[in-house]
Amino acid sequence: MRSIIDIMDLSVEEIDGLLATAEDIIENPKKYADACRGKKLATLFFEPSTRTRLSFEAAMYELGGNVIGFSDASSSSSSKGESVSDTARVISCYADIIAMRHHKEGAPYVASTKASIPVINAGDGGHNHPTQTLADLLTIKREKGRFNNLTIGFCGDLKFGRTVHSLISAMSRYENVKFVMISPDELTIPDYVKQNVLIPNSIEYKEVKSLEEAMPELDILYMTRVQKERFFNEADYIRLKDTYILTPERLQSAKDDLCIMHPLPRVNEISVAVDDDKRACYFKQVLNGKYMRMALILKLLEVEI
Ligand code: CP
Repeated sequence: MRSIIDIMDLSVEEIDGLLATAEDIIENPKKYADACRGKKLATLFFEPSTRTRLSFEAAMYELGGNVIGFSDASSSSSSKGESVSDTARVISCYADIIAMRHHKEGAPYVASTKASIPVINAGDGGHNHPTQTLADLLTIKREKGRFNNLTIGFCGDLKFGRTVHSLISAMSRYENVKFVMISPDELTIPDYVKQNVLIPNSIEYKEVKSLEEAMPELDILYMTRVQKERFFNEADYIRLKDTYILTPERLQSAKDDLCIMHPLPRVNEISVAVDDDKRACYFKQVLNGKYMRMALILKLLEVEI
């Protein structure tokens, strides 16, 4: 029995295997239609979600399985004071696998120590979001055809951006990957990411404020939302929320084969006028997320096709 709490819980070889499974599902969906017949996924979402929860649910249905769960903590017994540990033990009696999102960093890890079934971290506070990273990796593979020799710009909220933290960890294992961190001073990448990932792996990175200056060298631009829900002070959020807005004009100096990514939801940080640009990949990421979650469920439930 194995849980996935951090993207680094998966080796590069295992990620290659998940990518191969996801691409086989894309080519041969009927082959997988009964793979999880009789199995149940529990989606325990203590924080709002559209993509992650519904793609996990769609993934399980497309594998022939069933789904139970809640999308609002107020409708669960956590509102009466039940702990994450007890919730995990209880749900282990009803389901075969758990996908958990929680506003507290580390909550899915705590659940995994008490559950007797696999737990998948579906996003924990401003910390990690490993299954978004799986969606991102399939997108990079299909759009760029490689993980080595890429310059990736992360733009926006790099402090609380859990998708950014997880993707930096994942990409740090490939050759000649460079990062350009584009953010205001208040939202720079946390020190623990530098100390635990960038410095030990001798990753080349720079921190800048100007998206325009960074644009020409980027192979991938990973935009992020400034997250209102992570701020203690609304005035700070209002001051910072529109620091970066990607428009067709700002893309004029970008490479022709730039891959524009965003985990979504978007607010203002990418103009809708960019959506028709052939370089916009953020809705492809959404679909890729479903296929990678299907592959991950199969792996953790040890289903052989
Ligand atoms: N990308 C992502 O995690 O989206 P949701 O918050 O809608 O799940």
